Amino acid sequence: MIAIDVHLDADAAAAMANDVREGLTASPKELSPKYFYDERGSQLFERITELPEYYPTRREREILRDRSAEILAAAGTPGTLVELGSGSASKTRHLLNAMRAAGSLRTYVPVDISEEITRRAAAELVDEYPGLDVRGIVCDYETHLERVPRPEGALIAFLGGTIGNFRPAARRSFLARIATLMYPGDRFLLGTDLVKDRAIVEAAYNDSAGVTAEFNKNVLTVLNRELGADFDLDAFEHVAFWDPENEWIDIRLRALSEQLVDLTGLDMRAHFARNEEMRTEISTKFTRERIESSYADAGLELLEWWLDAEGLYALSLARPAQQ
Ligand code: TRP
Repeated sequence: MIAIDVHLDADAAAAMANDVREGLTASPKELSPKYFYDERGSQLFERITELPEYYPTRREREILRDRSAEILAAAGTPGTLVELGSGSASKTRHLLNAMRAAGSLRTYVPVDISEEITRRAAAELVDEYPGLDVRGIVCDYETHLERVPRPEGALIAFLGGTIGNFRPAARRSFLARIATLMYPGDRFLLGTDLVKDRAIVEAAYNDSAGVTAEFNKNVLTVLNRELGADFDLDAFEHVAFWDPENEWIDIRLRALSEQLVDLTGLDMRAHFARNEEMRTEISTKFTRERIESSYADAGLELLEWWLDAEGLYALSLARPAQQ
């Protein structure tokens, strides 16, 4: 059975306008990574995940492929899988297979911002897993987390290392909200990229084929289309470097020459000095200690942890901390 609830704000366009106005008037300038993922952006990201330099997706898939049975057992063999940012649910199948093999599989709750992708994934999954109950929610899980159905005894998965794209304060409050929503028997499964040799991480965000640069600049195309802006894509270059203090990759767009950009939809003009940089994303890398302390701050407790064969990426399992 499939039921999909759509909770998208009618004023998503207004929210975007406000967001972008705020980011372009801030100093330094900044854009939210939310706007990367239009149709073309999603395709470009898909290509990033296939690049030889971009290891996180493959490493996470490897852990799920090899350890799903173990993960499921450690989580208490739940009947429900809730997935935040489910997308095409391709990695999820490893978890669903383990649940089916254990005889516990009942319900899958995909949560994603794209209605089309969620419906397509739901239709495929009910075909592949006869009897599966899919209760999808189309929403921005950052703002609408409280609307996600939570049958008791669920495994709540947040994969892809996306937690690393949150600023520390947003990460803390997001994990704390998850902890508050969890029943005592629920378990949380989190994917995180790990701190490692700087050259490996920097290469992952500066691929030689230039796909990452194209992906980063695509956000300007989104603003041109959605907000009537006139960004010249050739006037900006992709920049990504390791920040050792914050332990994150800092991703920016740098103006190659002075730029005046009109945004008719915002009724504003943005000025960029030559070499001015605008941040478009951070991608935090973790250590086990940092994951444990992030959990502790949020009222969660680390139960188990799994690495890929080379120790580049981790999946961790947590439960609500016992009072
Ligand atoms: N969330 C992904 C990550 O942090 C997204 C990503 C990969 C990305 N490459 C990028 C975002 C380049 C902006 C620019 O790994």
